[in-house]
Amino acid sequence: MSEVENYSATTAEQIEEFRIRFLSKKNGELVRLFNEFKNVPAEQKKELGQKINSLKIAVTDKINSLKESLEETESTTGEFDLTAPGDAIKLGSRHPLSIVRNQITDIFKRLGFVISEGPEIEDDWHVFSALNFAEEHPARDMQDTFFIESNPDVLLRTHTSSIQIRVMENQKPPIRTINPGRVFRNEAISARAHCIFHQIEGLYIDENVSFADLKQTLLHFAKEFFGPETKIRLRPSYFPFTEPSAEVDVSCSLCGGKGCNVCKGTGWLEILGCGMVDPNVLELNGIDSKKYTGFAFGMGIERIAMLKFGVNDLRLYFENDVRFLDQFKSVIQ
Ligand code: PHE
Repeated sequence: MSEVENYSATTAEQIEEFRIRFLSKKNGELVRLFNEFKNVPAEQKKELGQKINSLKIAVTDKINSLKESLEETESTTGEFDLTAPGDAIKLGSRHPLSIVRNQITDIFKRLGFVISEGPEIEDDWHVFSALNFAEEHPARDMQDTFFIESNPDVLLRTHTSSIQIRVMENQKPPIRTINPGRVFRNEAISARAHCIFHQIEGLYIDENVSFADLKQTLLHFAKEFFGPETKIRLRPSYFPFTEPSAEVDVSCSLCGGKGCNVCKGTGWLEILGCGMVDPNVLELNGIDSKKYTGFAFGMGIERIAMLKFGVNDLRLYFENDVRFLDQFKSVIQ
C-alpha cells in the first residue's frame, strides 16, 4: 500500500509500466490478489476484500494524479519551446477595386478635390431629371434601371452623377468634389459587363472654369495614374448633362501606344467620359450659369483596374476567390 502511495514517475512510459504492474487483466497484482481471494477462509474474506478494494482505488488515484502532474510539467517546461517563434499571422490584402479607388481619389485630393458620397437607392430627380435627361431618354428605360417596388421614383442609381446633384444642393461654388460609389444597371453579366459596378466622378464649378482646365486636369491624372509617359486624346461624345462632351482615351501603357492585343492594335484605351457641365444642369440646381462654369468627368473603376492589373474578366472582382485577391498583397495601397 505505501509502495503505491510513494511511487513517483516522470514519464508517460513509467506511468504505463505502473498501470500494467497493478491493473493488467492478465497478470497484474490485483488480478492475482482476486484469484487468491477465492482460497482464503470465509472469516477472513471480509477484511481482505476491503483491503484489495482500497488498493485498487489507491492505484487508480495514483495513476490519475501522476498523469495530471506530467501534463502540467509538459505545458510549462517539458517538450514545449517557449522561445520558438509564434504562428505567422496571415496578412489580408485590400480588394483591387479599393486599391484603385484609393489611388484615383488620392490623385484628385492632392488637386484640392473633396470626397463626397451619396445613397445607392435614389429618386428620379437626382439620377435623371436634375441631370437634364429628357423625359423619353433611353437611359431611364426599364432595361437599364433597376426600379424598386415598381415605383418609377425609387431606383438604384445608374451612375454616381447623382452625388454631384446632392453636392450642388448643399454647397455654393467653388465646388471641387470627387465621388466614388457603387452603381447598378440591368445588364447581363459577362466578362466585360456586370449589373453592379463602381464609378468615380468628379465635378469642378467656379468662375472661368474652361475646357482647357478639364483637359489639363485629366492629363495630370493620366500621368499620375498610368505613368509619366502617358498621353491622352479626347473624342467628341454626348451626355445629357455636359456640353460639349468627350470621351477620353489614354495611350496604352502595355505597348506604349504601338498597338497590342489589350488596345486591339489601336494604341489607345478608352477610360472615361467628361465635358463642360450643361448650363441647364447648373440652373436646375440653383447655380447661376452666367457667373459660373464647370466641368465633370466619370470613369468605371473596374475597367481602370482591369487595365492597371491586366485582369481580363470583370467577374473576378465579385467572386472573392482568395487565390485572385492574394495577388494584390504587394500593391502599394
Ligand atoms: N455619368 C456618366 C456615365 O455614367 C459619366 C460621365 C460623368 C460623363 C460626368 C460625363 C461627365 O456614363
